[in-house]
Amino acid sequence: MSTASAFDMDDFFSSNELENWRRVLGPGMHYHFGLFRKAMPDGVSDAEMEAGLERAVRLLYRHIPQGASVFDVGCGWGGAASMLVQEHGCRVHGITISSSQAAYCRGRGIDVSLADAEASATVFPEKVDVAFLLESLSHIRDKETLLCRLRRCSDTLVLRTHCSLQPIDDAFGGSMSMMPRGDLEKMITRAGWRVRQSVDRRIESMPTVQGWRERLKCLPEECVTGQLQVLKKLCAEMTERPQFWARWHPLVEIIAD
Ligand SMILES: C[S@@+](CC[C@H](N)C(=O)[O-])C[C@H]1O[C@@H](n2cnc3c(N)ncnc32)[C@H](O)[C@@H]1O
Repeated sequence: MSTASAFDMDDFFSSNELENWRRVLGPGMHYHFGLFRKAMPDGVSDAEMEAGLERAVRLLYRHIPQGASVFDVGCGWGGAASMLVQEHGCRVHGITISSSQAAYCRGRGIDVSLADAEASATVFPEKVDVAFLLESLSHIRDKETLLCRLRRCSDTLVLRTHCSLQPIDDAFGGSMSMMPRGDLEKMITRAGWRVRQSVDRRIESMPTVQGWRERLKCLPEECVTGQLQVLKKLCAEMTERPQFWARWHPLVEIIAD
């Protein structure tokens, strides 16, 4: 099994200019799908986009005790981590494979390790209340080993991840490996967790694509390279065949203990 580092995940997540990420992701720097109460065929304003992104995090609070210790695996630019700290009183330790993201998170006061979660068992906490993975598990190659490690150090698993009914070549620029939802649930169970809840959030997440598309269109073309280009391609595919996407690629939220 190849590890994430063989793909050069750091380069993939770090190479675009920070300012361009800010323009696409918005002020909170959330790099995950938002969750919206309704379809938004006429476009998504910046305020609606931020509200959808924040709602996607707040909907998870009910599974995380207030003030809990949280291990945020694949914490990105710290969008969810900083909400968990500021709004929910959590103590969060994040881990990301991206040097740019780690530096950015430190700058916003988040306790973070720069490490490959598949390689560095030493950065795992001894004990936390919650292991939190917001759209990061799909980037992990050896998911079962990670899930077993998390079982040993955390009481609750809170994750949202992209699944796929069939394997996709070169998924998200080769950075992702997705599996069917049922197989993921079985894998989580094999790793020693009891799945308490499993929900598909794909339909609610779809307006995010419009928001990202509109923002990517506003960037000068020469800035839409690397991962931003991959994101642009994904947005185009999802916009072209929304029903196919929603059916074949669930966005699965799983709570386990
Ligand atoms: C789509 S982003 C999600 C970021 C963040 N959870 C959010 O919702 O804003 C995926 C994250 O997973 C991280 N990641 C991918 N593979 C990783 C690995 N092997 N070890 C640690 N982090 C990893 C990336 O650096 C990135 O931060």
